[in-house]
Amino acid sequence: MNILGIDTSCDDTSAAVVTDGLKIRSNIVSSQHEIHGKFGGVVPELASRRHLESIIPVIDHALRVADVSLDEIDCIAVTRGPGLVGSLVVGIAAAKAICEARSIPILGVNHIEGHITTSLMTDDPPEFPFVCLVVSGGHTNLYLAQSPGTYRLMGQTRDDAAGEAFDKVAKLLGLGYPGGRPIEETARKFSGETLPFPRAYLDKDSFDFSFSGVKTAVRNYIKKEGSISEDETSRVAHGFQEAVVGVLVDKAVRLAEHHGVGAVALTGGVAANGRLREQMQDRAGRFGIRVVAPPITLCTDNAAMIAAVGVLRHGEAKEHDLKMNAVSRWKL
Ligand code: KG4
Ligand code: ZN
Repeated sequence: MNILGIDTSCDDTSAAVVTDGLKIRSNIVSSQHEIHGKFGGVVPELASRRHLESIIPVIDHALRVADVSLDEIDCIAVTRGPGLVGSLVVGIAAAKAICEARSIPILGVNHIEGHITTSLMTDDPPEFPFVCLVVSGGHTNLYLAQSPGTYRLMGQTRDDAAGEAFDKVAKLLGLGYPGGRPIEETARKFSGETLPFPRAYLDKDSFDFSFSGVKTAVRNYIKKEGSISEDETSRVAHGFQEAVVGVLVDKAVRLAEHHGVGAVALTGGVAANGRLREQMQDRAGRFGIRVVAPPITLCTDNAAMIAAVGVLRHGEAKEHDLKMNAVSRWKL
């Protein structure tokens, strides 16, 4: 079975071919960072225009690398949401056109289910039930994964997503976009006492998150200091990263402990963060809980994760489903 996956949920155009056993035959991602970088965030209209230019070449590229033709594709799995509606419709229109022309069944996939499914694409996947932390530029969600396709949302951000907070703080520090990696690299240069930026734990038993407080604290700190030296930038980046990582790790491990599960999976663009991986290993390890973190190319947005959902759910795909449309807010 060959599943062609397509993802155009945000600012990356991606197509992939995944086969039985969740084996990746190709996973092509065309990034738009150079377009949005100068604006310090994704500009939706520019994103959809670039998706339009890239979508067909990216699909062709994915088929070529996988060495399969459209005749050998059993199903097209495409992201329906959540995401930017103008971006989503480009991938969906391309998928519907190919499916209609070739009588290939089509499956609309939830992007977050794709992120969670990457934990099953590792060499040593977690056994169900497990806890999954999805942390990206658009989401900070904590799930209890009960069985394939059954994911209970146990906590989510009440304001900014973790990645969004990294991007906004990087902008305040003049570190460019996307901001996660530069913050991590700058923070690594600092060794000293951690700046005590606020950590929001919210209600006592809550698994929800809030990052607007730490972001505002960084903004006020920079304003008070006036100009900020390179050393001070590292100190702020370090303090901010410790505050965000600390809360993410505490809540994910507490949820795992609470439900007596054996593993915590980590995915989404922020899961690329080395400090988050290290802290999660350290804390979860103390409770005998295993941490599963897929390779970084699977953590950030990609179509292999969408095709993988197609492998697991291809029985639900429909032929000639021209009515399928984008769902920009789609709660999993
Ligand atoms: O999953 P993703 O590629 O796209 C979304 O669906 O948002 O995640 C992108 C986000 C950005 O906010 C980026 O700054 C963040 O992931 N990110 C990181 C790191 N690498 C990427 N955040 C913290 N540390 C990193 N090393
Ligand atoms: Zn994503």
